[in-house]
Amino acid sequence: MAEQTGKKKGRILSGMRPTGPLHLGHLVGALGNWADLQDEYECYYMVADYHALMSEYHQPETIPQATRDVVLDWLACGLDPQRSVIFRQSDVPAHAELHLILSCIVPIGWLERVPTYKEQLQQLRHKEINTYAFLGYPCLQAADILLYRADTVPVGEDQASHLELTREVARRFNSLFGELFPEPTALILKEQEGGRLLGLDRRKMSKSYNNTIDLKDDPEVIGRKVASMITDPQRKTKADPGRPDYCNVATFYRIFCLELYEELEVATKCSGAGWGCVECKKNMYAGLAEYLRPIQEKRRELAESPETIDEILQAGAAKASALANQNLEEARRLCKLTGKRVP
Ligand code: TRP
Ligand code: SF4
Repeated sequence: MAEQTGKKKGRILSGMRPTGPLHLGHLVGALGNWADLQDEYECYYMVADYHALMSEYHQPETIPQATRDVVLDWLACGLDPQRSVIFRQSDVPAHAELHLILSCIVPIGWLERVPTYKEQLQQLRHKEINTYAFLGYPCLQAADILLYRADTVPVGEDQASHLELTREVARRFNSLFGELFPEPTALILKEQEGGRLLGLDRRKMSKSYNNTIDLKDDPEVIGRKVASMITDPQRKTKADPGRPDYCNVATFYRIFCLELYEELEVATKCSGAGWGCVECKKNMYAGLAEYLRPIQEKRRELAESPETIDEILQAGAAKASALANQNLEEARRLCKLTGKRVP
């Protein structure tokens, strides 16, 4: 049930972990939509540094810089601190407290069943994440969302199971202690019309596969990466026809520079063996660079005044805390943690 929030449709909370620079997959899969949602919803966007610590605890010194990078990328892509609350998870201690309350009522079996749990353990073996906290990853995520009584959570498909768990946790809290938390719905960001963006090697774009194009990559770097992209393996020579519906280079065109795609008749040239992949990539690179230019300019500008980021995070933490503490108090009251606190 949406809370009354003026003219807005509801309240959003979403987050990203500061574990490295953001890439085109983040932009297409989430960030682009986050910016669009700012007018329709009351938005809370959080840098999930506790979640990052769960996998980066061997190198915690990377987290502060990665946090700044995430915020820079967000602002460069149009998140606006005047319209949205932009904050860092660990700046609002109520996340940790609600997490502890929820951990009292979440059966271990629920956490063990979350599909991302075993997948990540497997994928990130080198990171030794077989810890107490990591099993509870989705429980902390549930606390993040419920703490703001958010009703809408825009996330990529990979987060669907965490949202399902959040809904179960909300139901369990409400039935054990009393109605407090709305069951949030995932706003699963719809697939791009141009098709599914893949990494340079055609696997899912992900830092752990080392196949990303990052928002802050220099043009030369992007040029090199585009040149290395896997195209249509059926096209062994220039004389072989290609499949523009299959090739990831064509998908990039359709997502980032559709006009160029149509103007150059890329689909026809590809399927009719009218040009080579090298030339095709060169043109796509130009379109992509053009698309990224304003984002990168804004990012460079913002990076010149680091204190702005600190100010945004401080102001964000104050606004987030105001709502978080109010809801935490209500949760504490319902589960009979009623002691008076030292202010
Ligand atoms: N687990 C999310 C991810 O890896 C990050 C995250 C943490 C999050 N807390 C959240 C996302 C709350 C949405 C809502 O992308
Ligand atoms: Fe891909 Fe372009 Fe080559 Fe076709 S011509 S296979 S779209 S890179």
